[in-house]
Amino acid sequence: MKILVTGGTGYIGSHTVLSLQEAGHEVVVLDNLVNSSEESMRRVAELSGTTPEFHNVDLVNEAAVERVFAAGGIDAVIHFAGLKAVGESVREPLSYYYNNLVGTLNLIRAMERHDVHSIVFSSSATVYGEHNPVPYVEKMEIGASNPYGRTKEQIEDILSDIGAADDRWHIALLRYFNPVGAHPSGRIGEDPQGIPNNLVPFIAQVAVGRREKLMVFGGDYDTPDGTCLRDYIHVVDLAEGHVAALNHVADRAGVFRWNLGSGKGSSVLEVLRSFEKAVGRPIPYEITGRRAGDLPAFWADATSALADLSWSTTKTVDQMCEDHWRWQENNPNGYAG
Ligand code: WQD
Repeated sequence: MKILVTGGTGYIGSHTVLSLQEAGHEVVVLDNLVNSSEESMRRVAELSGTTPEFHNVDLVNEAAVERVFAAGGIDAVIHFAGLKAVGESVREPLSYYYNNLVGTLNLIRAMERHDVHSIVFSSSATVYGEHNPVPYVEKMEIGASNPYGRTKEQIEDILSDIGAADDRWHIALLRYFNPVGAHPSGRIGEDPQGIPNNLVPFIAQVAVGRREKLMVFGGDYDTPDGTCLRDYIHVVDLAEGHVAALNHVADRAGVFRWNLGSGKGSSVLEVLRSFEKAVGRPIPYEITGRRAGDLPAFWADATSALADLSWSTTKTVDQMCEDHWRWQENNPNGYAG
């Protein structure tokens, strides 16, 4: 099939583009490069032998989105594009609601106009909010506690309502946990702009000498070693989960929700030790105060994805750290070289 991947030059997007090509799909990428580099497409082409068609387009530009669809032939969409930093969303909520919601509405309206009714949406574990027991299960009531998470929840609601009103729609809502790692080649990986918000890219930048030390946000939580537990998932496993979901909904109408996680929690210090093993030397860190908004522990109940998609994670935290380090060591400044 010919798949449009919005946000396809990004971290998860670029790994998914590669997995789609390896599965025999033709890929069209739409991205505004606000938080990524077109270099990732050149690297994907190097790995797969096929250069994805790329459009430097912002989803809020409705006419530009229409031109991508008017070129014809799109069979399905995987939708990653959107702003995604929790802290930034609290500081700049209007920007998040405008970009994430208007962009998605423009995308869905273009799909409708061009009779494309199959979509895989990149949602987030953040939609489960702070009130649900762990492990998170897809049928739980959702209720995000930050503007970023609320945009994901509202897009899930938009797609759910569209799917309920029109049975031509085939919709997969994927709730990610904590993606880390990189393609084993070390040629594509996570390249955050500015200071990384997330744990593993920050550790990687300390290890490669771009940052002085890791600040561990809180060592006094009610967890085995006092640091927060999260469900880390290798980005290649995550990309394969998208291909599995795309295949599942290709011939099934309706709205489907799946957690993409490992089903277990790892602590900040466990991940740090794992990364030290990959690097072969200690990584400087300091335990500081808690970060506002952090939950002590959450992870996925991943049984539905296994049952419905025959998909589960295959890589360990050690492998995630080894692959993340290979990418960072070979690309100390990310795609900037
Ligand atoms: C993990 C743990 C931090 C950085 C976020 C988003 C979520 C999803 C994944 C988009 C926490 C600790 C972190 C650091 C630290 N993104 N930490 N020092 O917060 O679980 O989830 O990214 O969908 O929506 O909320 O991931 O990597 O930021 O933090 O100690 O420099 O690492 O306190 O316990 P998080 P994270």
